[in-house]
Amino acid sequence: MMSSLLDWVSLLLRWAHVMTGIMWIGTSFYFIWLDASLRKLKETNPDLAGESWMVHGGGFYQVEKYLVAPQVLPEELHWFKYEAYLTWLSGFLLLVVLYYWGAESFLVRADGPASAPGAAIGISVASLLAGWLIYDTLCRSPIGQKTDVLAICVFILIALAAFGYTHVYPGRAAFLHIGVFIGTIMAANVFMVIIPNQKKVVAALLKGEVPDAKYGAQAKQRSLHNNYLTLPVLFMMISNHYPITYGHAYGWLVALGVLVFGGLVRHFFNAHDTGNLTTGAKLALPAAVVLVAAMAVMTSYRPPADPNADTVAFSDVNLIVRQRCVSCHAAKPTDEDFDEAPGGVIFATPADLRKYATRIEAQTVLTDTMPLANKTAMTDDERETLGAWIAQGARID
Ligand code: HEC
Repeated sequence: MMSSLLDWVSLLLRWAHVMTGIMWIGTSFYFIWLDASLRKLKETNPDLAGESWMVHGGGFYQVEKYLVAPQVLPEELHWFKYEAYLTWLSGFLLLVVLYYWGAESFLVRADGPASAPGAAIGISVASLLAGWLIYDTLCRSPIGQKTDVLAICVFILIALAAFGYTHVYPGRAAFLHIGVFIGTIMAANVFMVIIPNQKKVVAALLKGEVPDAKYGAQAKQRSLHNNYLTLPVLFMMISNHYPITYGHAYGWLVALGVLVFGGLVRHFFNAHDTGNLTTGAKLALPAAVVLVAAMAVMTSYRPPADPNADTVAFSDVNLIVRQRCVSCHAAKPTDEDFDEAPGGVIFATPADLRKYATRIEAQTVLTDTMPLANKTAMTDDERETLGAWIAQGARID
């Protein structure tokens, strides 16, 4: 009963998270595009940076951009901020429900430094907070004045976080945390810098003063970071369903590959949208393709089956699965955390094992995602036996 209710809570939160995320990223991409599409006006008002004409849903739209701001503020001014706040909030609640509440199964790793749920949760909260504080300090320090040095520092910060998470948490929780780490920086950028600075500009205007340009410059820097981080974060969040990414022994390197890959793709599209496709920007897309192909090969490689190896008897495989898997993967699991077979995966008959062979390989042989948190203490020898059986064609006769 309890676990089914929790399923509903997590489903609704996930739904809210995806929806608000679409709105946040949608408006953010829209404004980047809008900025890039602005064209100079012929007979100009000196306050105007440009205008853009659009057609959508049966109507025409004309948008004009003011730089820094109009002489007089309109009565009704629309802000875009709740999308970001709600995306973070729904995501954090989802983290609490799935990973903090279920820490025993999803967040602790028996062989990691945080083998108690309390410690694992503490590290999660503290690392997210520390990530933002370090990042913010970097941006405000003299390093923040140099875009490329700052970019390298932020990259190193994320690399350290990725390395740390993959050594503290199981692969899946680690990858998710890298995403949350970056996502928290992005949402805090909106909450702590971008919106407050915009408010200062508006306040100055209302007082009839000329707003300080530094507020705009700061907000622009943060917004540029968010722009480059969006695609990698989305990748991290959805790779949760792909053990081939997070389950790899060098999962943190895969995460960094994703960071570079997503950044390159974004770089290409930014340049494309502004019509400023330099050679460097043009090369960004093929470079991203080469990088992702290299990652795919690296994570998929496995040594060829040894032709001299003894044929694995199905009875051995069956015994391993009975001992290590069916406490959860049965119509009526005996594991107290599950009322029904997780993911709908049931290993009742030999045919079931054959049917799921490639997924078993992904979860148990190529990665150690299953058994969950290695609750049933599966050994490396047993993983090898399963791997050899699958390499030999997963025979059940
Ligand atoms: C303690 C409980 C538990 C044990 C033991 C366990 N699993 Fe799982 N398994 C889960 C959960 C929970 C999921 C669902 C994960 C999800 O929804 O992302 C899952 C999902 C799976 C999936 C489906 C993943 C997919 O989407 O392809 C496979 C395959 C799998 N397990 C194989 C195994 C094998 C093989 C073993 C034994 C070596 C095993 N599991 C042991 C809890 C367990």
